[in-house]
Amino acid sequence: MTDSDLAVIILAAGQGTRMKSRLPKVLHPLAGKPMLGHVIDTVSALGPNRIVVVVGPDMEQVANAAQPHRTVVQQDRLGTGHAVACAKNALGDHVGDVLILYGDVPLITVQTLEAMRATRDCDTKMVGLTFRPSDPARYGRVISNGDHIERIVEYKDASAEERAIGLCNAGMVLGARDVLFDLIARLDNRNAQGEYYLTDVFASAYANGSPAAMVEGSAQEVLGVNDRKELAQAEKILQGRLRARAMADGVTFLDPDTVWLSSDTRFDGEAVVEPNVFFGPGVRVGRDALIRAFCHLEGTEIGTGARIGPFARLRPGSSLSQNVHIGNFVEIKNANMGEGAKANHLAYVGDADVGPKANLGAGTITCNYDGFAKHRTAIGAGAFIGSNTALVAPVSVGDGVIVGAGSTITENIPADDLALGRGRQTNLSGRAKLFREARPPKRAK
Ligand code: UD1
Ligand code: MG
Repeated sequence: MTDSDLAVIILAAGQGTRMKSRLPKVLHPLAGKPMLGHVIDTVSALGPNRIVVVVGPDMEQVANAAQPHRTVVQQDRLGTGHAVACAKNALGDHVGDVLILYGDVPLITVQTLEAMRATRDCDTKMVGLTFRPSDPARYGRVISNGDHIERIVEYKDASAEERAIGLCNAGMVLGARDVLFDLIARLDNRNAQGEYYLTDVFASAYANGSPAAMVEGSAQEVLGVNDRKELAQAEKILQGRLRARAMADGVTFLDPDTVWLSSDTRFDGEAVVEPNVFFGPGVRVGRDALIRAFCHLEGTEIGTGARIGPFARLRPGSSLSQNVHIGNFVEIKNANMGEGAKANHLAYVGDADVGPKANLGAGTITCNYDGFAKHRTAIGAGAFIGSNTALVAPVSVGDGVIVGAGSTITENIPADDLALGRGRQTNLSGRAKLFREARPPKRAK
């Protein structure tokens, strides 16, 4: 069977009322990426020829997020079987297998989906995904016969005996298109919830003499997200996975549980990350970088051997070359720092291009905003910016320039100049003493 024999339907018409959110449930992010994006990315590894997402009415936001994949609208929410039926026409001329996933079950792994595909063969036209949660709660119960599914009974329809079964339905189904849709066409809604249950296809397949096989997944990967508590649980599981992957690639976390990663955080090789670091979207970390404690990083490329923090903030659009040093209480925004450049203490470097080996003293500020527009600052190679310098952009500082501490720089500085932009100091001889003596003595308490 080739990859293009697979089409995917992702069910996402649920309103997610328990999230108490204006954002549709499947757009809530995990590790910085919407849940639906996780499902789409995972299943894309199987190389399906199309993905169709079933959404509810007024869910344009979800349709936009699903692009370039197709969405179909399920006008009335009549059950999981009905939702799948709504996607049928969108499958077009596809004749192979159909895999049904849920948009609110975001942690499903590609290994489990591959196991489902491997179980499907000429004799086995359908495969269901099962799991054994520690608390089977209100999940559908799987009545099995050997390796096969005899039927699935929804919790609300189950007898006390059936509710005692520990094997549960995770919901994901793989089946040959023609077989699956023939069975779906015959569904009825004579059950406790008055819904067209997708799960009823299993009893029909069994009765027809071609029972579905089952694959057992882990309880973690089939966790459904229905409220904020489950969202937090899913986040925790995902963070554990992302950290495990980074560690396997050679990253040391001094205290892994305190580091938060985005799903797209990239480590190029060995690196060390101290406790309490937040990696927002779009961070790439070069080999041998050291990220010290309490840093907040987003949208930044960090070069080989760079040292960041403690307490640094790197904002989107920044690129730090090899061996750059960014120290405590330094903010970098939309700026490039050349090889070996340093800003070790208390600085704001925004909309700037800093040359190699430049050194920005404590309190260096690029004044990039005039209240109307942002302007850039250029700082040449090897320039030395004295402490507490305000660089009023747009402004350019040439290569090899030295700027005296406390300067306000409003004009471009040619290469190798020494620039001073501050009021001249006056020492008034003995005046401090006179000043003290002229004041009335302090009253005793
Ligand atoms: C379903 C299964 C149950 C299983 C459980 C696992 C059925 C009948 N029951 O129950 O056996 O243990 O999932 O979590 O399938 N959806 C639509 N349109 C609808 C109804 C649902 O798109 O009309 C979508 C939902 O958005 C969700 C998914 O289908 O992503 C599952 O629906 P949900 O209502 O959560 O089903 P459960 O009752 O939990
Ligand atoms: Mg559910």
